[in-house]
Parts: sequence; structure tokens; C-alpha cells
Amino acid sequence: MAALVFRRAGITRWRFSTTSPPFPRSRGTVRLLSHTVTLPATTERLRFDWWEDVDPAFAHSLWSDGNVMQFIGGPQDEAQVTARLVNQRKTRSEYGVQYWPIFLREGNDFVGCCGLKPRTDTPQLTYELGFHLVQDHWGRRFATEAATSVIAYAFGPLGADALFAGHRPTNESSRKAILRLGFVFDYEELYVPTGLIHPRYKLAAQIRSCS
Ligand SMILES: CC(C)(COP(=O)(O)OP(=O)(O)OC[C@H]1O[C@@H](n2cnc3c(N)ncnc32)[C@H](O)[C@@H]1OP(=O)(O)O)[C@@H](O)C(=O)NCCC(=O)NCCS
Repeated sequence: MAALVFRRAGITRWRFSTTSPPFPRSRGTVRLLSHTVTLPATTERLRFDWWEDVDPAFAHSLWSDGNVMQFIGGPQDEAQVTARLVNQRKTRSEYGVQYWPIFLREGNDFVGCCGLKPRTDTPQLTYELGFHLVQDHWGRRFATEAATSVIAYAFGPLGADALFAGHRPTNESSRKAILRLGFVFDYEELYVPTGLIHPRYKLAAQIRSCS
């Protein structure tokens, strides 16, 4: 049975059967019988939105920027950004998450995106955490602020077992932000698209609840 989705007042309510969950879950056990899909909580300075509900020009300004993309695959052309937005929509419809666009609460400036991508290679409920900010907003701890809310959402309503994050070895800004969030080094892997060994970090629900 497919997931049933109800939308009311900006809230998407998911109900699904034991045979066809829309979310990854522990094998053999149903992790969620009913789940309300909303957005990570607004922070002191930032609010989250869905890509479908904002001007796609924001996505183009972010992912076509050579400085923003220098460590994450290089600047994207119009077709690539459009494909990325389609992918974000798909992740939302299948898993209820995406790399949500973020905006300043005051002034409504576009800041970038921060969010979750489900990992399907483990039996546990795990996500990849990521953040991409427009250059004008670097250095103001926005990545940490947005990710703190995303982490709370992942370990709270989503019931995640663990989160993972990684970066190119030379992406010092990302390394600092990931460590500041409490992630711990987990392992290194050869990342085929770059041909480089990338460090990988993990934030586990148990570790977090003990700290
Ligand atoms: C990585 C990123 C998300 C960090 O976000 P942020 O909110 O700027 O992070 P912080 O404010 O905590 O700053 C982290 C580090 O970035 C560096 N930094 C800050 N402002 C900077 C600027 N204007 N230019 C270059 N680097 C800067 C500093 O090393 C800083 O560390 P410090 O505060 O100890 O000096 C952001 O730089 C970004 O979006 N970069 C491009 C996309 C990307 O690489 N994403 C990560 C993919 S793994």
C-alpha cells in the first residue's frame, strides 16, 4: 500500500502501511506508523522552506556559483541545477526531507540550504547532513545554526539512528562547522568523483543523548 498524504495548512501528514514505508527504517521492524512531515524549527535568525515553494532563481544563484561549489563538484549550469531541484522534489516525496532552502527571518535574504539526504546503504535510519551557503553569508555561523535545527529534527520527529557528514580534505570551513556540531571522525574513503580520500564523520543518537 502506498503512503497516504494529506496536506493542510502547510503540513503534510504521512501514514503508511507496514509493507510500503516511505522512509528508510530498520529492517524487519516498523519504525514509524504515523509521522507528520513539517520543516526543521525556525532558529533565532533563520527559517526553512521547501524548494518547491520558493523562486528557483535562488537555487540557480547558489549552485551556479564557482566559489560556493569549489569543493562540491564545481559550478552547475542551468540544466544541472534544474535536475538537482527535481531530485530535491523526489527526495521530499519519497522521504519527507531535502536540503531545505534557508532564509533570514529578518529581511528574508536567501542564505543557502541545509538539510538531510537519506542513506539507503545501511539497515539503520541514517541521513547525510549537508549545507551550502551563498558566499555573502559565510562566516556568520549560519551553517551551525541551521544544522543544529536540522539535527534536532532528525533525532526528534524523524527518529534517526545516526547522521553522517563529510567534506573534501581541503574544505577547512566545512570541517570546522561539522566538528562544531559535535560530529566525530568515523573513517576515510576514496570519493570517486574527486579521486581524493575524504574524511567521514558521524553523529549518533546515543552519543548525542549522553552528552
Ligand atoms: C562550509 C560552510 C557551510 C560553512 O558555513 P559558515 O556558516 O560560513 O560557517 P562558520 O561561520 O562557522 O565558519 C566556518 C569557517 O569558515 C571560514 N570562513 C568564515 N568566513 C569565511 C569567508 N568569508 N571566506 C572564507 N572562509 C570563511 C573560517 O575558517 C571559519 O572558521 P572560524 O570561524 O573558526 O574562523 C560555507 O562556507 C559554505 O557554504 N561553503 C560552500 C559550500 C560547501 O563547501 N559546503 C560544505 C560541503 S561539505
